[in-house]
Amino acid sequence: MEQTVDKEETTGGATEESKAGTAAATNGQGNGKVVLSVRNLQSYFFGQRGVGKAVDGVSFDLHEGETLGIVGESGCGKSVTMLSIMQLNPKPASRIVGGQILLNGEDLLQKSSSEMRRVRGKSISMVLQDPMTALNPVLTVGNQLYEPLRLHQRLAGKNLFEKAIELMKSVRIPAPETRLGSFPHQFSGGMRQRAVGAIGLSCDPQVLIADEPTTSLDVTVQAAYLALLKDLQKDRNLSILFITHDFGIVARMCDRVAVMYAGRIVELADTRDLFSNPAHPYTEALVNSVPDVDERVDRLTSIDGQPPSIYAIGEGCPFAARCAYVMDKCRETYPDQTVLEDGRAVSCWRYNE
Ligand SMILES: Nc1ncnc2c1ncn2[C@@H]1O[C@H](COP(=O)(O)OP(=O)(O)O)[C@@H](O)[C@H]1O
Ligand code: SF4
Ligand SMILES: [Mg+2]
Repeated sequence: MEQTVDKEETTGGATEESKAGTAAATNGQGNGKVVLSVRNLQSYFFGQRGVGKAVDGVSFDLHEGETLGIVGESGCGKSVTMLSIMQLNPKPASRIVGGQILLNGEDLLQKSSSEMRRVRGKSISMVLQDPMTALNPVLTVGNQLYEPLRLHQRLAGKNLFEKAIELMKSVRIPAPETRLGSFPHQFSGGMRQRAVGAIGLSCDPQVLIADEPTTSLDVTVQAAYLALLKDLQKDRNLSILFITHDFGIVARMCDRVAVMYAGRIVELADTRDLFSNPAHPYTEALVNSVPDVDERVDRLTSIDGQPPSIYAIGEGCPFAARCAYVMDKCRETYPDQTVLEDGRAVSCWRYNE
């Protein structure tokens, strides 16, 4: 644990460095290669209540070594987007009804389920919010780490053991030789999250999807985990999709940010531009509700009113009912995406002729 706290003190430096280093690879026009390209993804729920448009036309590119944040109020479609990328969206309740998910140029939606299993084990990995549900309580941490290594890297015997130790060390779990034999409940919260991180990295993925990975951790442990993630990213040139509703984490972790509302991305911008000069009225409301980005608070719930139900999203801009700038046409037609001079993309009639 002491190591962890030391690490935390270096967080500020690492963040500045990474921001400077990725500035050129932003806005989809930099030199960073596009690893994952999501195009017009639509993922709907079908049930007694009708059609629920949980994700309705989401598009973004994720570059090599980049961290793209996905923010927005609870229920706006962040998790369904990520689960759909993995094709782990809840079935049969939901279905991907449109779009493309290109990983290194290949459309994942055209792959068979066995090919998808390989993608999930090898190329894209996911770290979820609650480490307790991500780990199996009746298996040792070691066994849970061995499984993907056996399956996807075909390791056995001494190689398997050594790789597991290496991964435990890479996420700074002390005395890994003994810890491999421990059960999840014998780990502290922070250590459990790091164990989940180790399992997530066991396949040496190109893309890591982190869905609110630190929500259940206390502030110190969280800071240490985020610093660790940054380090691992640098070592492995990982591309990270980072879902959070914590703007402090966005500022610390993300190169660019996609703001989601009612199943769509309403603004996609460099993190600094987003905070200093939010374009979309929803982004503006979010940013204004955070007094200081370093303050760790969940303020995304403090905007008046509620997002619409996914079963009742009309033709117009779904933010209209809460928007300070609403105009007549906003209620009639959804605004197409406009790319502003600084490269950011925004969907709002204020920026659309
Ligand atoms: N299993 C499910 N069955 C029906 N609706 C769901 C299910 N999972 C999520 N939804 C709905 O899809 C929408 C998007 O949810 P989600 O992606 O989980 O939001 P968040 O941005 O908080 O991660 C929400 O309206 C949610 O109620
Ligand atoms: S399109 Fe209209 S209602 Fe929607 S965010 Fe822009 S100004 Fe507000
Ligand atoms: Mg979620």
